[in-house]
Amino acid sequence: MKIGVPMETKPMEARVALIPYAVAELVHAGHEVLVQASAGLLSGYSDAEFVAAGATILPSAEAVFASAELIVKVKEPIAGDLALLRSHHLLFCYLHLAPNPELSRRLCDIGLTAVAFETVVEGGRLPLLAPMSEIAGRVAVQAGVHYLHRSMGGKGLLLGGVPGAENGRVVIIGAGVAGQNAARMAAAMGAYVTAFDRSPDALRAIEAIAPNITGLFAYQEAIATAMCEADMVIGAVLIPGAKAPKLVTRDMVRAMPDGGFIADISIDQGGCIETIRATDYRNPVYVDEGVMHMGVTNMPGAVPRTASQALSGAILPYVHKLAGGQWQQVPSLQQGVNVAGGRIVHPALLS
Ligand SMILES: NC(=O)c1ccc[n+]([C@@H]2O[C@H](COP(=O)([O-])OP(=O)(O)OC[C@H]3O[C@@H](n4cnc5c(N)ncnc54)[C@H](O)[C@@H]3O)[C@@H](O)[C@H]2O)c1
Repeated sequence: MKIGVPMETKPMEARVALIPYAVAELVHAGHEVLVQASAGLLSGYSDAEFVAAGATILPSAEAVFASAELIVKVKEPIAGDLALLRSHHLLFCYLHLAPNPELSRRLCDIGLTAVAFETVVEGGRLPLLAPMSEIAGRVAVQAGVHYLHRSMGGKGLLLGGVPGAENGRVVIIGAGVAGQNAARMAAAMGAYVTAFDRSPDALRAIEAIAPNITGLFAYQEAIATAMCEADMVIGAVLIPGAKAPKLVTRDMVRAMPDGGFIADISIDQGGCIETIRATDYRNPVYVDEGVMHMGVTNMPGAVPRTASQALSGAILPYVHKLAGGQWQQVPSLQQGVNVAGGRIVHPALLS
């Protein structure tokens, strides 16, 4: 099959969906891989490395979309990509359609089939969301540490403290993959971490990471109490495919001490914090209720080399299956189909 890898077009998005090692495996399996010129450059992969792996470099996105049947990219298509997609394309990327009815409508109008990374399910897990959630959880804390600096407008707190000074308090909403990775980073620095979830297993897993992490059931009152002392809040809930529930209200944000930091990782599903809105890396933060907010929808875009390597390895087995032609018999990929034949088909998007 002809597999197209276009360059990402979202602002400041530098990831590439397949790195040269993955391309080499697909070429070895008999596929033709068409990579847009410079697609891997910002992740540290030159066109020459793709050519050495057996790819064909095409000069433009137009050329890639016109020749390829399977389009493998990272983020959801935006204006330029949408103009190039056709009904015969099989699209494989992150889509996050729940908070984006306009994109759902555009994809239905085109009439293509789209499989969303974030809704591919394997053994009850989300194997293609996990690597980016791991990165986003870690990046959110790294960013927060920086924005708590006075020079960045924060309250001037060293998250882990030092002997003789107070340690920071971190509240995490959602103790899944992103939440656990955020907790790991914050706890390793010495912060006191309180994580909320509705799943006892998730709470057990997050508490097992370190003794300075407490897992609590996500009662509204309990979240409200923790927010009053929080220096950093990380939103990381997920109901697969659906819009995120708003678990942190504006009143709770107002009750946070001034100069604090919020990153809502679940912004790609609409966000779980009432005061959050989507931002990008050109202008990642804004202040609301005296608290710095970060709603970057592609947090792993800050570390494209790490993210491209992790994503490429995770999606490769599924790209093999999609390109192999028998993917309709593969349950994990069937569950990932969001749009087919001009219709929305994923149950979470229909409810
Ligand atoms: N912004 C970004 O760049 C970026 C990158 C990666 C992932 N994400 C997003 O981060 C979010 C989290 O992803 P994940 O992989 O950690 O998901 P996950 O499924 O591993 O974890 C989500 C957790 O939320 C919990 N949850 C669901 N509803 C809840 C509720 N009402 N109250 C309390 N807890 C609840 C679940 O029990 C689960 O433990 C998703 O929206 C994902 O799309 C964003």
